[in-house]
Amino acid sequence: MINEISIPTGSTIQEALVNINANTLGMTFVVSNDNKLIGMVTDGDIRRGLIDGSNVNDEVNSIMNTSFTSLHIKSDNVEILKHLSERIRVIPLVGDQGELLDYASHRKLRRVSLVSPQFDEAELSNVIQCVKTGWVSSQGKFVREFEQQFRTYCKRPVALATSNGTVALHLAIEALGIGEGDEVLVPDLTFAASANSVLYAGARPILVDVERNSLMIDIEKAERAITPRTKAIMPVHLYGQIADMDKVMAFAKKHNLFVIEDCAEALGSTYKGQPVGSFGDAGSFSFFGNKIITTGEGGMVVFKSEEVGEMAAVLRDHGMDKTKRYWHNHIGFNYRMTNLQGALGTAQMEKLEHFVAGKRNVASYYDEAFKSVNEIETPYINPDVENCYWMYNIILSESCKVDRDEVMNKLVKTGIECRPMFYPLSDMPVYADYCTTDITESKIVAARGISLPSSPTLTEPELDFVIQNVRWAVQGEEANS
Ligand SMILES: Cc1ncc(COP(=O)(O)O)c(C=O)c1O
Repeated sequence: MINEISIPTGSTIQEALVNINANTLGMTFVVSNDNKLIGMVTDGDIRRGLIDGSNVNDEVNSIMNTSFTSLHIKSDNVEILKHLSERIRVIPLVGDQGELLDYASHRKLRRVSLVSPQFDEAELSNVIQCVKTGWVSSQGKFVREFEQQFRTYCKRPVALATSNGTVALHLAIEALGIGEGDEVLVPDLTFAASANSVLYAGARPILVDVERNSLMIDIEKAERAITPRTKAIMPVHLYGQIADMDKVMAFAKKHNLFVIEDCAEALGSTYKGQPVGSFGDAGSFSFFGNKIITTGEGGMVVFKSEEVGEMAAVLRDHGMDKTKRYWHNHIGFNYRMTNLQGALGTAQMEKLEHFVAGKRNVASYYDEAFKSVNEIETPYINPDVENCYWMYNIILSESCKVDRDEVMNKLVKTGIECRPMFYPLSDMPVYADYCTTDITESKIVAARGISLPSSPTLTEPELDFVIQNVRWAVQGEEANS
């Protein structure tokens, strides 16, 4: 990127013009051999130089501007906006040694998004193939390929692609025969879809507190929530962390429960070397735009039992008989994925390891930077879990005197997108009735948690920018004070 907006010292005016023409900024930066910023040249500087008798083959240094405004790479938007004006439209952003790292302009204010989807030619060419061949609805090779990738990844005999992660969960619950009069244990700290999918089936979600450290469903507390109606437990592998599956499976065996893993946020995470979704009777995934891999909207559900999987396949397709078209043995659903989504999915799945590696790098960079900040608790590390870090969360510790929402406001003001952790379901009137045991930890954690930018492609300058601003915000200082 830097090469596109800069030229080496000693370049000709002609070379400067070529760079300006390509970068469309109306100017270029002149850098020394070790990338230190030494000057700027605008279209206007060149015009004036030529009028005064310079030649396009002359060195650009003869006409460049050496008294310019530059800012440190960690400057926030408030600081940058103070310097941008009608006259100064582009500001170089430099490192500690004066090296050119980036630039800011009104069009390109510094903004770090929470997570952004990563696509390249592979997705594009698959989608083009769908459009060119006309295979755009749910019949098509990409859906089948995508399902095969999940059968292999989760080592499960059945994988069914669905239109989103919520219906993947619902399909699992229906196919397992859970319905009216039944109860399913669901963690209180999760996205509403986990509990909603149980309600869609006519069953009751029973909200259970989470463990303070891992944020996963607390099995000791789940023991207290068991009734003769309990049919299943839904461990939700929230934010990429994984529930203690040894404990969950032993608990399920003891009480004869189905296990439905909600893996919407944890594709790529492993527990004792095994992928999420490979433990329970069913495991569901989401491919919403901010997930580890995305198909825009989309989901997948894997099954341990072929028989249950077959039932789910029928229910996904309107409950239609597999051999007699338009004959319906069940009241089913249309929960199918389109081939267009599958086209994105197969290409994305090929890059899963790459995305997860990027997210782990981001997480360890944050971990290292925040470990010395008293006001911040970093994510719990379970030695049995390889976390994919779908989203990196910090929890403000007791010693942080700044309110969580105020910290977030400060970050947003500086162009850093962030969001609160999920609210406890038991706090919301629509779910309050589904709480039968005491809930404390999920409320404490949720009130103090913030999700930070977690894209696998975040660069070190971007991470440093986030880290510096988080430090200032939690310590109650103004940015750049
Ligand atoms: C924990 C959890 N479960 C289920 C879902 C539902 O997935 P979808 O948005 O694809 O319907 C999500 C989605 O964000 C989620 O985070």
